[in-house]
Amino acid sequence: MVSKEQVMELIKSVEDPILHKSVLVHEVKIKGSHISLKVALSKTGTSEQLEVQQQIVKLLKEAGAETVGLRFDSLSEEEMTSDEAKKVNPGTPPLLSSECQTTFLAIASGKGGVGKSTVSSNLAVALSRLGYKVGLIDADIYGFSIPDMMEIKTRPEIIDNKIIPPERFGVKVMSMAFFSEDNSPVIWRGPMLGKMLNSFFSEVNWGELDFLLLDLPPGTGDIALDVHSMLPSSKEIIVTTPHPTAALVAVRAGKMAQTANHEILGVIENMSYFESKETGKKEYIFGRGGGERIVQELKTDLFGKLPLAQPDEEDPDTARSIYGADHPIGKIYEGIANSVIAKVKKEQFVEVK
Ligand SMILES: Nc1ncnc2c1ncn2[C@@H]1O[C@H](COP(=O)(O)OP(=O)(O)OP(=O)(O)O)[C@@H](O)[C@H]1O
Ligand SMILES: [Mg+2]
Repeated sequence: MVSKEQVMELIKSVEDPILHKSVLVHEVKIKGSHISLKVALSKTGTSEQLEVQQQIVKLLKEAGAETVGLRFDSLSEEEMTSDEAKKVNPGTPPLLSSECQTTFLAIASGKGGVGKSTVSSNLAVALSRLGYKVGLIDADIYGFSIPDMMEIKTRPEIIDNKIIPPERFGVKVMSMAFFSEDNSPVIWRGPMLGKMLNSFFSEVNWGELDFLLLDLPPGTGDIALDVHSMLPSSKEIIVTTPHPTAALVAVRAGKMAQTANHEILGVIENMSYFESKETGKKEYIFGRGGGERIVQELKTDLFGKLPLAQPDEEDPDTARSIYGADHPIGKIYEGIANSVIAKVKKEQFVEVK
């Protein structure tokens, strides 16, 4: 029967599919005519792994093994040079490049104060709870509110000349709040928005992201259009209250966006009703029908309706404006997140057809 040394020698002829050098053996056990071994590859689970497996089994059987037990391991960081590590994981393409796979979602409204920031942060958290990699940009440079709503206590770090965004509830967040001392106002002119956004894209190390949400400042759409010209593939989600005026202004902003070929992904209606804890009865304090009206006029989808409420402070899975995953409103956000994902996926499917 073969010895451990002979097995090691035989395996030397097997190449790592990415690094093109011998695979590394982490463990060999020989019991009678059964050989079991653990082999480390630079990347496991690839289609080439099967070929490596067949090659090893063939070699060992030719050397006299009757049965072969083979497990794969990943090479550790120490087992690769930094050049090799780069080969295995070339890093994520920059956010604004064409290879970037991130879906950009711009959260807009016509009127201010309808709950864009509340909805953006809760939607970001819901997407993250569903297992997606999510970033959130607080694009309201004057009225930044996201870090407070999510109760983010940490600040960005600078590593290798890149800003590392703080993370909360699994969401990476960037906001002007991090660069403003003591909540003091940032006095900038309009064109700064573009500059600020640009540096949030190019100077921040976001890592790999499935979704990047942008919480836009209030306005009738010009800011959304700026964002669209910078991120042509971004999709807009409109937040409205059920009030007819809010809906009217949102329709105007939405039409402006559509004229510029900016896609409206869907609508979320916020502050839709108040549900009495005692009786369970719904009261429509701000009227009804705002969301439906936008959907009809802009020919888009209604992702969901959110009641008037505040997160439950006792819940550890919560922050000032963030609902826990098991809170009834946390569940509504989960449903909205699923609808958003379904629509994005459907469109990607259509695009590749
Ligand atoms: N469903 C809700 N129930 C109760 N309060 C809410 C709800 N949604 C938002 N609010 C509150 O309403 C206020 C405005 O919400 P938010 O800041 O999210 O709106 P906004 O559209 O981002 O505002 P702005 O236009 O100023 O950026 C906040 O105090 C927020 O906590
Ligand atoms: Mg806001």
